[in-house]
Amino acid sequence: MSQSQPSCFESGSLSLLLSVTLLLAPAISFAATTEDVYKDTCAICHGVDGAGQTARGKRFKLKDLRSAEIQKLTDAQLLDIIAKGKGKDMPGYEQEFGPDGVKAQVAHLRELAKKK
Ligand code: HEC
Repeated sequence: MSQSQPSCFESGSLSLLLSVTLLLAPAISFAATTEDVYKDTCAICHGVDGAGQTARGKRFKLKDLRSAEIQKLTDAQLLDIIAKGKGKDMPGYEQEFGPDGVKAQVAHLRELAKKK
């Protein structure tokens, strides 16, 4: 004969739901400013659209971040570049953004490519 679920199961899933909500809350509020962070931080070199057509971008001969060549990099590779920097002219942003912030910028680069 089947018994009804013990009540601790229900309260367990409720607190799981609550903690998931709490975990997501900061991520959602951060996502709203990912574009601003990109504009404030990256666009000075890479341009708002990612094309790299800025004074610094031209000086550094930056590749278009939306190009197939850059977009074919895996998320892990992009994550690494943004976290640690690249070459002598691009600084890393791991400290400033934290892991979630760096991830959000990878997602933003994918979005830029879609808008092209
Ligand atoms: C001070 C200028 C500068 C800023 C600011 C900057 N970058 Fe870069 N970025 C560069 C340079 C220069 C390279 C190319 C480095 C090389 O290949 O030696 C580069 C390369 C990259 C690459 C790899 C593409 C390639 O050509 O190999 C990605 C992705 C990237 N940057 C993303 C970002 C993001 C996202 C930000 C903001 C969080 C950012 N960059 C901020 C200068 C900058």
